[in-house]
Amino acid sequence: MALATRRWLPRALAAGGLALLAGASVAADPAEIARGKLLFTTLQPACAVCHTLQAAGAEGQIGPVLDELKPDADRVLRALRNGIGVMPSYAEKISPQDMQALARFVAHATGAASP
Ligand code: HEC
Repeated sequence: MALATRRWLPRALAAGGLALLAGASVAADPAEIARGKLLFTTLQPACAVCHTLQAAGAEGQIGPVLDELKPDADRVLRALRNGIGVMPSYAEKISPQDMQALARFVAHATGAASP
């Protein structure tokens, strides 16, 4: 019983994440990943100021090290939409497409989600 629950939950979460992403394609799109990487270092304020992420050459020390946290795309999206702690929300600053590109880039870079 406990085992069944444990197996069911990640599946449900993954399905929720996919529904949220609701992109035309589920496969990693190299152009989208590249866009996410660019945004990571060029946004105001840049994610790179606060986060360490090797794939983006980022060494920020304020937020969690994303290489260690390995957030999936859904988790990144939630942080971007709502903000978390001292991290500001980006909902008013960038488009949903750009938030998705960032989320996919981070998840892809840390190996969290293999779309
Ligand atoms: C001003 C510094 C700052 C900036 C800029 C910033 N973050 Fe954060 N971020 C943080 C801090 C601090 C936390 C931890 C918040 C907490 O857990 O209280 C965090 C948490 C996160 C998390 C983990 C959320 C979770 O569920 O635990 C992700 C993913 C993340 N940030 C991604 C990003 C991305 C992508 C960007 C750029 C669009 C960004 N951050 C910009 C400071 C920042």
